[in-house]
Amino acid sequence: MCGIVGYIGTKKACPILLAGLSRLEYRGYDSAGISTIEKNGLSLVKDKGRVKILENNPAINTLEGTIGIAHTRWATHGKPSKENSHPHQDNSKIFSVVHNGIIENYQELRNMLEKNGYTFLSQTDTEVIPNLINYYYKKEQEHDIHAFLKAVRNCCLDLKGSFAIEVISSEFPKNMIVVRKDSPLVIGTCESEKYISSDIPAILSYTRDFYFLNDLEFALLENTNTTFFNSNLEEINKPTSNIEWDATASEKNGYEDFMLKEIYEQPTAIRETIGSKISLESKCDFEELELTKDYLESVNKIYIIACGTAMHAGLAGKNVIEKLCRIPVEVDIASEFRYRNPIVNEKTLCIFISQSGETADTIAALKLAKLCGSRTIAISNVIGSSITREADYSIYTHAGPEIAVASTKAYTSQVVLLNMLALYFAEILEIVDMDLINNIKKEMLLLPKKIEETFSCKNSIQEFAKKIYQEKDVFFLGRGIDETVAKEGSLKLKEISYIHSESYAAGELKHGPIALIENGITVISILMDSSLIEKTISNIQEVISRGAKTLVVTSHDCNTTMFDEVIKIPDTIPYLSPILSVIPLQLLAYYISKEKGLDVDKPRNLAKSVTVE
Ligand code: G6P
Repeated sequence: MCGIVGYIGTKKACPILLAGLSRLEYRGYDSAGISTIEKNGLSLVKDKGRVKILENNPAINTLEGTIGIAHTRWATHGKPSKENSHPHQDNSKIFSVVHNGIIENYQELRNMLEKNGYTFLSQTDTEVIPNLINYYYKKEQEHDIHAFLKAVRNCCLDLKGSFAIEVISSEFPKNMIVVRKDSPLVIGTCESEKYISSDIPAILSYTRDFYFLNDLEFALLENTNTTFFNSNLEEINKPTSNIEWDATASEKNGYEDFMLKEIYEQPTAIRETIGSKISLESKCDFEELELTKDYLESVNKIYIIACGTAMHAGLAGKNVIEKLCRIPVEVDIASEFRYRNPIVNEKTLCIFISQSGETADTIAALKLAKLCGSRTIAISNVIGSSITREADYSIYTHAGPEIAVASTKAYTSQVVLLNMLALYFAEILEIVDMDLINNIKKEMLLLPKKIEETFSCKNSIQEFAKKIYQEKDVFFLGRGIDETVAKEGSLKLKEISYIHSESYAAGELKHGPIALIENGITVISILMDSSLIEKTISNIQEVISRGAKTLVVTSHDCNTTMFDEVIKIPDTIPYLSPILSVIPLQLLAYYISKEKGLDVDKPRNLAKSVTVE
């Protein structure tokens, strides 16, 4: 949901800002803009469309300033247009602002400002911000840096909603102020330069040292210095965190698309996520969680809460936690959990999964669970992300930066981590026989190799994609753990190929959706769980007899003449099977999208990190 980037240093800001915007484009790509501090005041160049259009704007070449802010937009208020693009300025053109988030009370603020003589050029919620800063700034007697800071602070205290904001001013040509509330923003620091961004990978090639702001903390930046303030404008100290990600991890490294690269990074992502936590010689180690046997015995329900693909990983987590720990697990969509008055208390353990750690609904659900007295664990891929700062405890997938909008390596890493967590709980509770625990551990350690083997399905999948890329509807079927993968396969296909698809528990098809099965329709089934395979095959027979074209993903020896295409993948235990069976489905969605000539990494209407509710 919108990407913001900023630079303050000794080099020309413009090329750095444009490079940052290109890296952040996955967050939104309907318009882009830039504002720098030039000798004659603030520059402003912006336009509808992608960052490339901004790069080709002749005015870009005239920008010389060493301080600037920039934005790539995912429209919320007002359609994509030049006027609605960021940065926005106040009426006197003293302040330029970029904003990620939503100002819920913007209409009220706009009315107040209009009554005070301010006029507006756009339909955005954001345009109230520079004007409100101007309104408060004018009220100050002295127009010094403290007045600038106070005006930004007063403005932010009036805003309801979520925001990450960068402000520059023609009156303070050496400074920038940044602040966040419920929207992501990081500050990368090196000796004489500061880089600001919505996320870490966009600026990882410049620095590994980052400051993370909490809600309503203000950073006053100069190229060599950063001063932090709380919302009372008292100075506070903030430590830097060193991020270990390799800068090349956020480059395509020869792959045509980030999604394909990230699919192929899955063996490494899984290996890194397992790290040294799993070994046959010792117990699974999550000491950072500080969970005791007494506490786990007191838990009568576990909630797993997430959105999108992360929620699908949660479904796989439910399967393994319930089976090993015998604690009921409910998986909920964060945006639903929040409004259902959930039964959550000190006997409930809530686990929140978010690749980015910045999904607004997930963060709000986490805050609610804490209020209800539940212990909270965050699972994220991003160190220092908002969700990890809110939760009681945090554990991490180590998938490296995921750039493609459609999540792949984060999903499989989340499923592995949830299996590890289930093992950890089970070992503490001492209710599972050691042979089963050791078998899961052994299979887990074999996963990276088995994923490599699974990639050999690529050519068959590519051929199948050529056959079905023009379809209008596709069905995905599975039972038990395989149904959770059917859901993820269906989501991947929708997201990047724009083909309508449905996933169903195979046994449920006959209760309605089978009415939609007609001659030639494609039905994709996952057959990994040997205890359910015969039952699912009977359901596939039902669609075959109604003329469906079938693709089956399985680790078993099936009667290949029965199906149009069988993708044979390595076998593993059902708990871990999503990590292998999802791979052909990720590749299928990818190759269908390519056949259709679509932008795989930046599908229409979507954004990687959904920081609005
Ligand atoms: C968006 C993305 C999905 C992602 C979901 C949750 O919808 O397009 O790929 O699964 O957000 O994101 P999170 O960062 O919380 O895992």
